[in-house]
Amino acid sequence: MKTLVSASILSADFGHLSDELTRAEESGCDMIHFDVMDGHFVPNISYGVPVLKSIRKYSGLPFDVHLMISDPNAYIEPFAKAGADGITFHLEATANPVGIIDKIHSLGLKAGVSVKPKTDVSLLYPLVGIMDMALIMTVEPGFGGQGFIYETLEKIKALREYSSDLDIEVDGGISDKTAHLVREAGANVLVSGSYLFRAADMASNCKLLKD
Ligand code: DX5
Ligand code: ZN
Repeated sequence: MKTLVSASILSADFGHLSDELTRAEESGCDMIHFDVMDGHFVPNISYGVPVLKSIRKYSGLPFDVHLMISDPNAYIEPFAKAGADGITFHLEATANPVGIIDKIHSLGLKAGVSVKPKTDVSLLYPLVGIMDMALIMTVEPGFGGQGFIYETLEKIKALREYSSDLDIEVDGGISDKTAHLVREAGANVLVSGSYLFRAADMASNCKLLKD
């Protein structure tokens, strides 16, 4: 499968977000990863609907929205209206993942479901064929710039063995040191924040994630 890179603007310079979006697009990134944190599901607060609405026009790339929030169901429609192309929510935050996937699909968007590092990957198996993408967190969600958790590689392998064509995204600690490991394990969508946005030459780092 072709490797796609989703640039997490959590590590961008927020004072120059439109320039940062242009830099990611011109550097060969395939998607913009938009991390939403509510200070409840995770111990951090990032940005939400008005920010997405305001920056959406500055990029031609698809927006890959990652909801790290306790009540994803309530925010699907606002993020869809604000310009999301795909919305990923956490399995740990809902008892009705199929209902949320249906809602995302009814708005014409791609639906992703994420699991934290300690959540059993087999909980995602019943959603294969319903969701468009699985997101395996490779750090505890909440902050950029953390170290990759190597135990998550087995989860990626198991899910890839279960499904040969599902999009499998990974998020957290992805750099030239870990990209080949997650790709070999079966991931095909790589989120990267600090490794891309703190680079002097983002294009060369983006290419290293794909090579
Ligand atoms: C963390 C976020 C990530 C974060 C990744 O909870 O979901 O998307 O931006 O940052 P890096 O690539 O720096 O680990
Ligand atoms: Zn993320």
